[in-house]
Amino acid sequence: MSDKVRKTIIAGNWKMNKLRKEASELASALVAGTKGKENLPEIVLCPPFTCLDVVVAAAKGSQVKVGAQNVDHRDSGAFTGEVAPPMLVDCGATYVIIGHSERRQFFGETNQSVPLRVKAALNHGLTPIVCVGELLDERENELTDPVVKRQVGAAVNGLTEEEIVKLVFAYEPVWAIGTGKVCESKEAARVVALVRSTLKASFQNKDKAELVPVLYGGSMSAKNAEELLAQDEIDGGLIGGASLKADEFLEIINHACKRPRLSAAKA
Ligand code: PGA
Repeated sequence: MSDKVRKTIIAGNWKMNKLRKEASELASALVAGTKGKENLPEIVLCPPFTCLDVVVAAAKGSQVKVGAQNVDHRDSGAFTGEVAPPMLVDCGATYVIIGHSERRQFFGETNQSVPLRVKAALNHGLTPIVCVGELLDERENELTDPVVKRQVGAAVNGLTEEEIVKLVFAYEPVWAIGTGKVCESKEAARVVALVRSTLKASFQNKDKAELVPVLYGGSMSAKNAEELLAQDEIDGGLIGGASLKADEFLEIINHACKRPRLSAAKA
């Protein structure tokens, strides 16, 4: 057995919400609400680009980390509207969400662009939170497993083992995002395990795949977090709507504090 453990991570994806003052207040409330708590998960706040600096300022001196919601794969240049990895680092971000289903659905993100962004983020020391998950139509046609496997395989395409162990994945069934329809916890755990077993193909020492945290996302709330987080396979949550109110997000964090830290055996 190894003493290495997978992190529990509770990440808030604020999407296109919050002005700077609101963002600063929410981040400050979360910092105050988690201060001195034991067994805290890694808490990551992902505000819009325009609020990164104020959230970084509010989180300063605390354990709370800050992430962006997207990143380009180039360092600079004539790419109107894009934001480069060094710019995120410059703002104080340490995480970045990549391949969120809303980026895939509305902004042309694909299994080809995701690995470029993942690699660029890693090159600049950012931790990617890579999102994968099936559409409702794909689930109804029993395509969940092949779709998720393809997305995971694409995301790690060209990466070394040392790079892959730095990633965080989030299984987010698209039909559960923002709909209030949460994926049943055993099924979420099954697909989360599938993400990890798919990663095994990229490792000589298959146990190393056990080190990669895999979160669940999709209508996770204070009501259902306890049951989802009780699944050993699920290492935390990527939370949209329920991350926008301090009280509710803190309740989810409290559930995560009660989670035992799992040892990633033999890795
Ligand atoms: P939701 O969003 O919690 O509002 O469903 C999750 C996400 O899109 O990451």
